[in-house]
Amino acid sequence: MTSPYRLQGRTAIVTGATRGIGHAVARHLAAAGALVCVTARDAEEVRRTAAELGGVGAAGSVADPDHLRAVVDLTLREFGRIDVVVNNAATNLPYGPLMDVEPLAWREAFTVNVEAPLRLVQCAWHAWMREHGGAVVNVCTEGAGHVGPNIGAYGTSKAALLHLTQQLAGELGPKVRVNSVSPGLVRTEMARFVWEPGEEEVAAGLPLGRIGEPEDVARAVVWLASDAAEWVTGADLLVDGGTRVRAAGAATGSAVQEHLRTRGTATP
Ligand SMILES: NC(=O)c1ccc[n+]([C@@H]2O[C@H](COP(=O)([O-])OP(=O)(O)OC[C@H]3O[C@@H](n4cnc5c(N)ncnc54)[C@H](OP(=O)(O)O)[C@@H]3O)[C@@H](O)[C@H]2O)c1
Repeated sequence: MTSPYRLQGRTAIVTGATRGIGHAVARHLAAAGALVCVTARDAEEVRRTAAELGGVGAAGSVADPDHLRAVVDLTLREFGRIDVVVNNAATNLPYGPLMDVEPLAWREAFTVNVEAPLRLVQCAWHAWMREHGGAVVNVCTEGAGHVGPNIGAYGTSKAALLHLTQQLAGELGPKVRVNSVSPGLVRTEMARFVWEPGEEEVAAGLPLGRIGEPEDVARAVVWLASDAAEWVTGADLLVDGGTRVRAAGAATGSAVQEHLRTRGTATP
């Protein structure tokens, strides 16, 4: 795999990088020349991914502040610098109407989806980026722009991450750029319960005629992380196959919303 974005000599932390979008992001960053530090909860998968990409890895949950500090320490110890942070790990739980959501489950969604990205950026900022600069990319969701059945906790937390992205972009310039990507429906484990039952139907309703692949999002992340985006901060890059603009096309209704309403059981 070759990349037009030169990241030789740079290093990147990617959370949730053992499968799906995070794995594609780490792979594309490594292909562009970056040394990567990958994370996830499953230690064996972390070891496998780090070895595959010639990088390092740390197993743990992003909900644990000690783990985030350890990730930054490891990256600095092994590579001597931190140029890119990609906050990708997330949970789409708790699933269901908000009136039924347990307070602890609601808090966990915000711990993983909002607090962890902030804490990781804090660690990277104090340890390296404040002095040397860098780029942060947060993985949000196209769904943060509107409401949907049963995904109130996920959508609300991702909307907060979008706001956090803009706030940090304003606070951390000019040394550090902070942007987000907002994917539409992508073929990963997290979203399997939505795309598997009705992929053709969902694809037919999209202007670009297919659901997303992890690589679609990875290419956008690498661009935002690279010097090609050196005058871009506080931006949210939609990578959604036209989901947001589908109402202007021939197809009617939203197959995704229908699957969320009727067939969904989100995965941890
Ligand atoms: N797929 C979509 O359609 C879609 C759409 C919009 C936005 N997104 C966003 O894209 C990002 C990646 O999602 P995905 O679809 O690629 O998910 P995925 O295929 O389920 O992969 C999730 C990755 O994150 C890790 N992970 C999960 N919880 C974690 C935690 N608490 N701490 C550390 N690592 C954790 C997983 O490994 P372990 O289980 O071993 O921890 C795995 O490596 C998320 O931010 C998601 O909200 C996805």
